[in-house]
Amino acid sequence: MSIGVFDSGIGGLSVHRALVSRLPEADFTYLADQAHAPYGGLSGERIVELTRAGAERLFDRGASLVVLACNTASAHALRRLQQTWLPDYREAIGRPVNLLGLIVPTIEAATGVAWAEEGASESADVVGVFSTPGTTASRVYEIETAKRAPNLRLVSQPCHDLARMIEAGATRESLRREIGEQVEALTLRIGRPPDRAILGCTHYELVADLFREALPPTTALIHQPGPTAEALARYLETHPEYEAGKSGERCFLTTGRPGEQNALAAAFWAAPLRFEAA
Ligand code: DGL
Repeated sequence: MSIGVFDSGIGGLSVHRALVSRLPEADFTYLADQAHAPYGGLSGERIVELTRAGAERLFDRGASLVVLACNTASAHALRRLQQTWLPDYREAIGRPVNLLGLIVPTIEAATGVAWAEEGASESADVVGVFSTPGTTASRVYEIETAKRAPNLRLVSQPCHDLARMIEAGATRESLRREIGEQVEALTLRIGRPPDRAILGCTHYELVADLFREALPPTTALIHQPGPTAEALARYLETHPEYEAGKSGERCFLTTGRPGEQNALAAAFWAAPLRFEAA
């Protein structure tokens, strides 16, 4: 048994790296759906369909849990698949399997409010969310934040091209320019810089230093990988029926072109990274 990690491309590596360092003995299979990336501009229905296909591939290869290391997939497909697909699928394969997302752990980190203390925050801060157009359109950050911290103002900034640029290995200079423009657009919409900023697309974590550079020091950056890794560790502790393996195996698969990943991914992973055909 293993843990599956799913993203449209290389962005999920940011989460995967934190999962591996939190659970070094577990076996992991990472699947990048690069044949269909980026997901950010696709319809909700198409995202649900692609996420189901990706999860099924990972379950077929022995995953007990699949972490959707993709905000766009989590926003559109997590609840839908948990409610409409997983119950029958579990029965068909005859073992426990489940999907986990990363948006709730991120919101808990941003608001400091867990589900159990719903609505406890009195904070009137402004939180900015940088995400794909698909995630922005879903309004999942607004909905989940309102449940926990109704006084918190949340403003989402859809970054139309950024995930594609990162996936394509764009130069640091063009990424710096693009991120500068997105930060400026969000600041104009709020009327001042946000108090906290969520990198609400896993691809953006690969260039978190450029976001840090573009935002003023007074804006706290909320990162997804750490809270997601903690959430997975807690889930495994409280749900012993899901096995994570014990051999520390790492397998990287892609639906796109196998081989070396771009320099940005390799630099982020701190080693050359070869993906095999899924
Ligand atoms: N990395 C993904 C996310 O967190 C998807 C980016 C994309 O494919 O557009 O939203």
